[in-house]
Amino acid sequence: MKLFINPKHSQGHINPELQGHFSEHLGRCIYEGLYVGENNKDIPNVNGMRTDVVEALKQIRIPVLRWPGGCFADEYHWKDGIGPKESRKKMINTHWGGVVEDNSFGTHEFMELCRQLGCKTYVNGNLGSGTVQEMSEWVEYMTFEGVSPMADQRKANGHEAPWTVDYFGVGNENWGCGGNMRPEYYGDLYRRYQTYVRNYDPKKPIFKIACGANAQDYDWTEGVMKTCFRGADQFHGFMDGISLHYYTVPGGWEHKGSAVDFDEKRWYKTMATTLFMEELIRKHEAVMIRHDKDHKVALIVDEWGTWYDVEEGTNPGFLYQQNTIRDALVAGINLNIFNKHCDRVKMANIAQLVNVLQAVILTDGDKMIKTPTYHVFDMYKHHQDAELVESYVENETIGIEDENKVPALHESVSLGKDGKLHITINNLSAEKDYEIEGIVTDSEIKGVSAEIVSGEMHEHNSFDDPERVTKKSFSDVSIKDNRICFTIPKCSVMHIAVEI
Ligand code: AHR
Repeated sequence: MKLFINPKHSQGHINPELQGHFSEHLGRCIYEGLYVGENNKDIPNVNGMRTDVVEALKQIRIPVLRWPGGCFADEYHWKDGIGPKESRKKMINTHWGGVVEDNSFGTHEFMELCRQLGCKTYVNGNLGSGTVQEMSEWVEYMTFEGVSPMADQRKANGHEAPWTVDYFGVGNENWGCGGNMRPEYYGDLYRRYQTYVRNYDPKKPIFKIACGANAQDYDWTEGVMKTCFRGADQFHGFMDGISLHYYTVPGGWEHKGSAVDFDEKRWYKTMATTLFMEELIRKHEAVMIRHDKDHKVALIVDEWGTWYDVEEGTNPGFLYQQNTIRDALVAGINLNIFNKHCDRVKMANIAQLVNVLQAVILTDGDKMIKTPTYHVFDMYKHHQDAELVESYVENETIGIEDENKVPALHESVSLGKDGKLHITINNLSAEKDYEIEGIVTDSEIKGVSAEIVSGEMHEHNSFDDPERVTKKSFSDVSIKDNRICFTIPKCSVMHIAVEI
């Protein structure tokens, strides 16, 4: 198969935030996974954040973190999570497992975590059950420098300087868990709430995100855009972005299926379901463009990833699942799709960071493992801040059932700040390797190096076998007659760096 690349034809800038993450007060994501408490003597931590996890996340250059939800966001009252820990209110996390939330991880802890990770902050406000005043005061608490009731409280709680809130979500899934609203009703509320999300520092305007659709609910996008859009500049516009949530649920919501135990049919169904993301982005974009002709509003895919049955013996409300080579492919495909739509998609956040859904990290007590998905992010990080270039791969259609036929190969290519071309290519086939010949227009190929995440489709890491699936260097790539030659094995995600 031939892979054509034209490095002279740039197709847009790849925001690092396309490789963003999401951490909700759900199961063992925040508590145990990220935060173990300042007084924990058993698990090494800095200010309560576990060192092993923070170090691993720094390696993949996590660009942005969304918090505190998800569905939790529209039940979260931020004032419960500030001040002395012993006097913080306890509540029941009704959405997720009915466990006691002691609010020991709140605004200060989130900002500290982002500081340690060196990433941008994406805070999701409560529109479903919170007041305008509450949302407005949260923004004031976090970002106002001068003298004000909220800024003074922040200072009294030990943080003199304001933080930067890069992104702010005005509600989450308000068509469902965030209030069961209709789009026009939400749109009106959005207009009102966002008015009080003030830009206290005009040099760091907050990027405001309206709640977008669930999968193919194009009417929602239409209703919200119609109600809310009026330009997107910092002072006059109402919105900078609108979100989209889409999960790969290969068995459907009733019978999601096992994360590790699946057949080839289910493999292809997973691939086909994931590829649907492409159509969703195109169609939502088509709706947006009716109102926003100049492409001012970004599409923010702030929840994506696989959703399977929980692991046996775990709390069904904790959404803890394993992660195999199949998930590596799902990650590779989605990240390629986001790259290819980088003119409109400005941020995407996989759900979720640790121990929940398609996590990049799993923990058990003081042990930690990196999932196959982690290693894909580690390879794709070279696309961050790069320029997408034109690429096309010859293909064939594979699969078992008619409705689940998929292309065998899936790619995206960027020109990095390091001057190298970065090719990420996936082989979706469960049985066939493909020989590839890469042709780069008008360029001399001076060197190539490659790395790969590959294996039998069910392979995964466990606490007994933590390195079974990792990123490996791939030496079987060569330059012949100014062409890049290699064979991509079945079930593989690959990154090739090309010096030109
Ligand atoms: O990521 C888990 C949940 O999925 C989120 O809380 C919600 O927004 C979505 O339905």
